[in-house]
Amino acid sequence: MKNSTNSGSVSWESPSNIALIKYWGKKGNQLPCNPSISMSLKNSLSLTNLTYEPKGKGDQLSFLFEGKRQEPFEQRIANFFESLSDQFSFLKDFQISISSENTFPHSTGIASSASAMSSLALCLCSMEEEVTGVQVEKDEFYRKASLIARLGSGSASRSVYGGFVAWGESNSFSKSSDEYAVPFSQYIHPVFQDFQDAILLVSSEKKVVSSSAGHQLMVNHPYATARFAQANSHFERMLGVLRSGNLEEFIEIMENEALSLHGLMMNSTPSFTLLKPNTLELIERIRSFRLSSHIPIGFTLDAGPNIHLMYPKSEKEKVVPFIDSDLSPFLENGKYIIDEKGEGPQKIKI
Ligand code: DP6
Repeated sequence: MKNSTNSGSVSWESPSNIALIKYWGKKGNQLPCNPSISMSLKNSLSLTNLTYEPKGKGDQLSFLFEGKRQEPFEQRIANFFESLSDQFSFLKDFQISISSENTFPHSTGIASSASAMSSLALCLCSMEEEVTGVQVEKDEFYRKASLIARLGSGSASRSVYGGFVAWGESNSFSKSSDEYAVPFSQYIHPVFQDFQDAILLVSSEKKVVSSSAGHQLMVNHPYATARFAQANSHFERMLGVLRSGNLEEFIEIMENEALSLHGLMMNSTPSFTLLKPNTLELIERIRSFRLSSHIPIGFTLDAGPNIHLMYPKSEKEKVVPFIDSDLSPFLENGKYIIDEKGEGPQKIKI
């Protein structure tokens, strides 16, 4: 217990994550139609600062992104805060200023809503502790942060933890929940402990379909039932693979998930093709390199054209030269970002 305050400032740094089993389709209040698994990243982070003081007349929420006012996002956050009146009844009494920045450039295929919303949710939970003077137990703190992050953006629920994280109810994972994500505290095979993700930038064009509109495509999708059954089965198999270290099976499931996601988008009504010709060229090249070199590299994709090339750290010295020589000619300005499994968010003392 400590004294409550009526003005203060809290900061959190929180990572983006890459989904191995995809969340695609939602129901009710931001609940997933199937369980998903992601790996939190180490270098792709959002740093968010939240400053609060007692509200005066006409005070408005303010939001700066990389030092500049972002009105559309400001509105989204204002709506988000209003929707949180049950969880954080104190919010209405405070004037709040938020500033956020990312360690990665825009439109790189790195999920910025996951890192941004998770860092904001963590700030809100820290603010709650300060204004109420009640410090909650660590597990409970993160569980609430994950739930709040989920209400902001589904995939953000997983960014509240480091390593491998599951979100969504599954019979094969006893602590799993649709409401919040759960970290893997069980044994994970050493090969995955320092797993690498090279983000290959095919195009930085703005997304043609937002994630929210994308999830809507699963409502009455002709393959919805089959997809949710497939995701459940992949989820269960992936849990086993993360323990066994079977890289062949890991790659098979991960690539199938990525292409299923894009297949579903292509045969949705309306239909979206987010893969670019160079994405397909890269996929072919990654697969033929794997066959000829026997190096276990595989790819996954978010809802966009950029590739996440996933591989064990022990292969880094062979994989990076392969990217430079064989893949970079197909990348926008030859650009890629080296990232890897990270340990999760950190509270920043200022
Ligand atoms: C393809 O979490 O961005 O990246 O809940 O509407 O904010 P909202 O969607 P979002 O969807 C992510 C979709 C995905 C797969 C995944 O990360 O699991």
